[in-house]
Amino acid sequence: MIARPLSVKVPGDKSIAHRTLMIAALAPGESMIVGLPEAADVRSTATALAELGVLVEWPAGSGRAVVTPPAAWPDRMVTLDCGNSGTSARLLTGLVAGLGLSARIDGDASLRSRPMDRVVYPLQAMGARITYAGASDRLPVELEARASGNLRVLRYRSRVSSAQVKSALVLAAVGAGIEFEMWDPGRSRDHTERLLEHVGVPLSFGPDGKGAHLRLEAGSRARLRSLDVQIPGDPSSAAFLLGAGLLRGRSVTVDGLLLNPTRTGFLDVLEEMGADIEMVIQDEWAGEPVGSVSVNPGPLHGVRIEASQIPGLVDEIPLIAVLAAIARGETRISGAGELRLKESDRLAALAENLAAIGGSVEEMPDGLTIAGDPDLIPRGSVRTHGDHRIAMAFGAMSVVPGSNLDFDDPACVAVSYPKFWDACAVVGEAA
Ligand code: S3P
Repeated sequence: MIARPLSVKVPGDKSIAHRTLMIAALAPGESMIVGLPEAADVRSTATALAELGVLVEWPAGSGRAVVTPPAAWPDRMVTLDCGNSGTSARLLTGLVAGLGLSARIDGDASLRSRPMDRVVYPLQAMGARITYAGASDRLPVELEARASGNLRVLRYRSRVSSAQVKSALVLAAVGAGIEFEMWDPGRSRDHTERLLEHVGVPLSFGPDGKGAHLRLEAGSRARLRSLDVQIPGDPSSAAFLLGAGLLRGRSVTVDGLLLNPTRTGFLDVLEEMGADIEMVIQDEWAGEPVGSVSVNPGPLHGVRIEASQIPGLVDEIPLIAVLAAIARGETRISGAGELRLKESDRLAALAENLAAIGGSVEEMPDGLTIAGDPDLIPRGSVRTHGDHRIAMAFGAMSVVPGSNLDFDDPACVAVSYPKFWDACAVVGEAA
C-alpha cells in the first residue's frame, strides 16, 4: 500500500543556534533570535553565557531569545558546564580565550572523553593561557585571564576539517579584535562565517582546492552589529525523518529548511542511492539559503562514501548506514575516522547495532562496509551509547513495517531534537 505524502517541520538548526547566541554575546546592545530549538545542547550554551554575565531571556518553548551582553565581563573564574555539547565546549573555549577571561570549561562523561587539543593548541599559539585540569587533551580545561596584551595573529593550516575548530578560532579572533587566517583541509560547515558577515564583520571565505580558506580582518569586534535573525530548520534533524520516509515508502516534505551546501551532502547521497529529491531554495535568512526539500521513495542501492564527502555529511552517516542496511548491494564508507570522536564512537556503535538488528556489517578503522538486504526486517535491541544520532538513525528504522526495535535510552534525543519520537511516529503511521 502506498502511504500518503507528508509535510513536516523540524526545529531550528542547532549549529546556527549556538553561533547566534555566542555572536549576540559579543555584539553591542540587544539581539533578537527567533527559531531557537528546544535542544539541551543549545540550552548548555545559553546557560554558560549566562554564567559569563550575558543576559539570555529565552522562555522555555518560545523559540525566541533576547540576548544582551554584560556591562562588564566577570573578573573571577567561572565554571561553564557544557553538558553533552561538543560545539558549546569548543566554541566557548575560543570565545573565552578571545575575551581574555578566566573560566573552567567542563562537560558530562561523554564530552570529557572527546579531544580538546584541536582547539587548545592553536589557541595557545595565539597566546591564550589554557591548561588541562585533568587528563591531557580532555575536559575540563582552565583558561586564565591574561594580564597583559591581546592574542597574537595566527595563520593556521588545520590538519582536521572541523567547523568547531574553525569557529572556536574565529570567535577568539573576533573577541580579541585581531586578524586571523585559516586553511581547512575540507569544507566544513561555514555558519560562523556567514553569520559574522551578515552582522557586519569584514571577512572573506570560500573553497580553496579541496578545502576552504578564510580571512578575518583586524578590528572585527568593533564592526559587529546586534542580531535580528531567524534560524532555519535543522537539516540534521530533518535527515532522520526524510530517511524514515524512505524506509516507510512515503514521500516527506520539509519546509523552512536550512539548505547550506556544507550541510546537504546527505541529500546528494540519498539521491545517488535511488531516492528522488526535490530541493527549492526560496529565501535567505541570516545569510543562509532556506527552502523546502521533498524526498520521494525509490528502490535504494549501495554507494561509496569517501573522505572528501565526510565534512558535508558528518552527522548524517548514522542515517546513511541504516539506509545502506536495507539497500540492494554493498555500501562502503571510508575516511570517516572522525566519527569515532563524536558523542559516541559512532563507527563502533553503528557496527554493533546493525549486527544486533539483523544487518551485515564490517567495521574498519576509518569506516564501515555494509552488505544491504532489501528484505531485512529490523528486530532487536539498540544500545544508543547515550548518542542522539545513533538513537534517531535506528529510530528511523523502526518505521519499517514489521520491525521490532527497543532502545536502552530513547530520551538521549533531547540534546538536539526532544520531540523526535513523536515526529517519527507520524512518519510511521499507517496512511
Ligand atoms: C558542529 C560541527 C561538527 C558536527 C557537530 C556540530 C558545529 O563537528 O559533528 O555535530 O556546530 O560546528 P566537527 O566540526 O568537529 O566535525
